[in-house]
Amino acid sequence: MPISIGNFKGGSAKTTSAIHIAADMQTLGPTILGDGDIVRASVKWSARGTGMPFKVVPIAQLAKEMRAAMYDHVVIDAEANPSDEDFKDIAKGCDLLVIPTEADSTARDRLIYTLTQAQGYRPPQSPRAHHQGASAAAGRSADAPR
Ligand SMILES: Nc1ncnc2c1ncn2[C@@H]1O[C@H](COP(=O)(O)OP(=O)(O)OP(=O)(O)O)[C@@H](O)[C@H]1O
Ligand SMILES: [Mg+2]
Repeated sequence: MPISIGNFKGGSAKTTSAIHIAADMQTLGPTILGDGDIVRASVKWSARGTGMPFKVVPIAQLAKEMRAAMYDHVVIDAEANPSDEDFKDIAKGCDLLVIPTEADSTARDRLIYTLTQAQGYRPPQSPRAHHQGASAAAGRSADAPR
């Protein structure tokens, strides 16, 4: 399943969430994380210590890596501050969009903007909120199987 982690706001725990979600998905099947951020935080994180139990590559190398090996799940650590068009492409390219956010007023404003952009091309769904240090809103994209 393709899962994207995105938020217009930087520093909202996208990379942290992507790494942990990919680790969890790996317990279900072979998983690859595509790092879409310009600073390659996921790639650098995965290179530290003993590495990750799943493959991590820059997003531009995803196609080649997915030709070389079979993966059941793809997790995308999306870029911070994407353009509106880029964010729509991120949201359209996944079955599940996870939007991690801090619980403060600045982050709330960016979350509302992010949700507005995400809902601009798909029918509103019931977002699920999880509170664990940071919180996350997640909804299925229009292209996802129901
Ligand atoms: N669940 C959490 N609870 C509290 N703090 C968190 C949580 N997840 C991440 N953080 C902290 O929030 C900060 C930002 O995390 P992270 O780098 O994952 O955000 P990001 O959205 O990927 O940032 P960027 O926009 O720069 O790519 C880090 O200091 C990280 O340790
Ligand atoms: Mg990041």
